[in-house]
Amino acid sequence: MELKVPQTLRFEHLELREQLYALTKEDNDLGAAARAVMELFYMHAIKEEERVLPALQVLPQLAEGQIADSMKSLEDIAADLKGGLYEELFEDHRTLVTALREISKAALVLGRKGEVKFVDRFILHAQMEEEILYPAAKVAAEYFLLLMQCKEREG
Ligand SMILES: [Fe+2]
Ligand SMILES: [Fe+2]
Repeated sequence: MELKVPQTLRFEHLELREQLYALTKEDNDLGAAARAVMELFYMHAIKEEERVLPALQVLPQLAEGQIADSMKSLEDIAADLKGGLYEELFEDHRTLVTALREISKAALVLGRKGEVKFVDRFILHAQMEEEILYPAAKVAAEYFLLLMQCKEREG
C-alpha cells in the first residue's frame, strides 16, 4: 500500500488550483500573472503531493507509536527531505510568493478585492506548510526511522 496525501490537504490544493485556473483564462495582466503562478504551482504541488505530504497520512498512527510495513515509503521521504528537498520547498515558496504578489498588484489596479484575498489565502497556505506541514512530515518520517531502529534492536 502506498501512502496517500490526507484528503483535507488534497482538497485544499484542489481548491487553490481551481481558483487559480479560472484566473489564467483572463486576457489581462491578472491573467498573465496567474499563468506565471500556475506554471510554478503545478510542479511545486506535484512535488509536495508525491514526495512530502503522504508522510502525514500516518501521523495519527505514528503518534500512537504504531508502525507497519505499509509505511516503508517514509524511508524515501526522510532521505529526500534530508537530501535537499526540504530547502527546495522553501525556495519554491519564495519564488511562488513573488509571482503571487504580481496577481495582487494586477488585482488591485482592477479593483478586484476578491482576487487580492485569494492571494492572501494562497500565501497563508504556503506559510502554514512552512510552519507546520513540512516540519510535521519531516518529524513523521524521522520518527518512523527511529521506531524501526528500536524495533530492530528489540529483535
Ligand atoms: Fe501546498
Ligand atoms: Fe507549498
